Amino acid sequence: MKIAIMGAMPEEVAPILEKLGEYKTTQYANNKYYEATYKGVDLVIAYSKIGKVFSTLTATTMIEHFGCEKLLFSGVAGAISPSLKVGDLIIATKLSQHDLDITAFGHPFGYVPEGAVFVEADKDLISLGKKVALEMNKVVQEGVIATGDQFVANEERKNFIGSTFNADALEMEGASVAVVCDALSVPFFILRAISDAADMDASFSFDEFLETSAVESAEFVMKMVDKLVD
Ligand code: ADE
Repeated sequence: MKIAIMGAMPEEVAPILEKLGEYKTTQYANNKYYEATYKGVDLVIAYSKIGKVFSTLTATTMIEHFGCEKLLFSGVAGAISPSLKVGDLIIATKLSQHDLDITAFGHPFGYVPEGAVFVEADKDLISLGKKVALEMNKVVQEGVIATGDQFVANEERKNFIGSTFNADALEMEGASVAVVCDALSVPFFILRAISDAADMDASFSFDEFLETSAVESAEFVMKMVDKLVD
């Protein structure tokens, strides 16, 4: 089995590479891909760079070029749900693109013809995530994640996304990765640790908590890998 582990920023994959120690670096399509064998299983790790376009490219490359058969995403997110605080983990049940808008033609936000407003994450990986949470004695929330090419630092926009998509957290890559994995029939799991509340203090909070929250998420994802290789 070959497993992709993806983040968007260097800080999101650094804790994983640190844990692996040894890996091979391959340059492909303007990005670096790190290949390692971990407990007898092949891993491909990469950070895509921020946003839907780069994450689409990286997810597609990991599947089509490197042959990954499952994809785990680890990173940080802004909280919408008031129950999510900095450092808390959220597992995406389904994801939507909050900035996809052809409402002028009578379609709902997040929808284009032949697409879907939501893409559901793999149920078996979510169950595994819940098992890992229990074993780690961690409270991990499940919920809807909304994705867009915007760093949201504005209550009004955050509330719009929350009410339109019933979303609990927002970020900039999950839904595009979901669309790729769904189209290519690759089971995927999106995990995020909260770095900010997508409000007027979001950029400061993000800068302060990016690293620690990214570590929270990466440690959890590696525990998932441990379970997958068992
Ligand atoms: N990722 C982490 N925080 C975010 C925010 N406020 N907006 C978009 N993506 C994020």
